[in-house]
Amino acid sequence: MTITDPTLSTTDVDADLSASSAEYIPDDRYRSHEKYTSLVGIKKDAKRQLSEVVWNYLWTGTGDETTVERNTSKFDELLWEVPLFSGVSNPNTSTRFLDYDLSFPLLTAPFGQEAVFHPDGHLAIGRAVEKVGVHQMVPVAGSHLIEDVAKASGSAKIYQMTFVGEEEHVLQMIHRAKAAGYEYICVTYSPIRQWRERLREDRFSPRGLTDSVNFGPNGSNPAGLKELLEFTKPRWTWEQAKRVIERSPLPCIVKGVGSAEDATRALAAGAVGVYVSNYGGRTIDRTLSTIELLPEIRAAVGPDVPIVLDSGIRRGSDIAAAVALGANAVAIGRLTAIGLAADGEHGVQRTLELLKEEFWTTLGHLGCSSVAELGPHVFRQK
Ligand SMILES: Cc1cc2nc3c(=O)[nH]c(=O)nc-3n(C[C@H](O)[C@H](O)[C@H](O)COP(=O)(O)O)c2cc1C
Repeated sequence: MTITDPTLSTTDVDADLSASSAEYIPDDRYRSHEKYTSLVGIKKDAKRQLSEVVWNYLWTGTGDETTVERNTSKFDELLWEVPLFSGVSNPNTSTRFLDYDLSFPLLTAPFGQEAVFHPDGHLAIGRAVEKVGVHQMVPVAGSHLIEDVAKASGSAKIYQMTFVGEEEHVLQMIHRAKAAGYEYICVTYSPIRQWRERLREDRFSPRGLTDSVNFGPNGSNPAGLKELLEFTKPRWTWEQAKRVIERSPLPCIVKGVGSAEDATRALAAGAVGVYVSNYGGRTIDRTLSTIELLPEIRAAVGPDVPIVLDSGIRRGSDIAAAVALGANAVAIGRLTAIGLAADGEHGVQRTLELLKEEFWTTLGHLGCSSVAELGPHVFRQK
């Protein structure tokens, strides 16, 4: 007999429980001693910790922020077809991306000036991702020296470098990253300033609050940073990017790919992987979302090229959708930042754990016993 038996009064329930407690199985799925039980609490805490202008820096997009919205709403339009009696009980969430074993298909995206969210920044992110068994990408514009971030954990192997300014200077930075222990370069392009109205309204820039420590070969030369901010030199062409990728002592993946054509160009320039991204709608508004573009990009590069996708990942089921449509892994920017802002290393760790758990749950409902079993068949066919 259970406590939901409508024929029992409250007193009867107590009596019944004490009489036959062995039969009573409490539903304690939602009991938890954890500080955070879902990302809702983490986002709330992050907002509480940050001033409004810093929150705006974290959450901003460009223009009317329609791409920010589209990045998430297009995930919501992807509907599952859920099988019955699939026999799957404990899906295996682990996978591989580049040379790395991941406990689930996720990396943290590189984001700069992160000390405005929490002083430990990418040092804390590195420790958190290591505990959960995934990897981080470390930005040139980070608040800590890339050497210190590399030493803080064993999971900082991919370094994001903007291809801007002098080619030799960029190559020096790549050599510096290699010496620090990084194994891959995430190449980014910086065409021009971004039109971010929240920051304009707030008259706010995170630079200056946390000056970039990583520009220049010795960690102090601000030439690269100056060029990123001032746009005095011509922007790079594919020929230049190819020249530097070919001379790079580390293999490169190219970030910001938003078309089959650019994916093909990136590979022709020597990239070993493709990073599908619109920077979370933070560069230019009114683009397609990355999840819409993914199938044509996967078709263009074939089945074997590693693809990581970001922009709009907000929950574990988004990870499943991206992998089903051809990504080998996803990356998270804002979600990492809210974890960091909410509670430093612990906040990031919890963010990752919760995403992993929801991803596991999604695999189970979809009848997939492993990441490899995800594919277009998991969606409702119209
Ligand atoms: C606060 C913030 C700062 C960022 N700074 C960088 C950066 O320095 N370099 C970079 O390649 N991407 C940067 N990004 C973009 C992220 O790497 C990532 O592409 C984006 O956040 C993904 O979208 P999502 O936030 O919806 O997950 C930044 C993103 C945020 C939120």
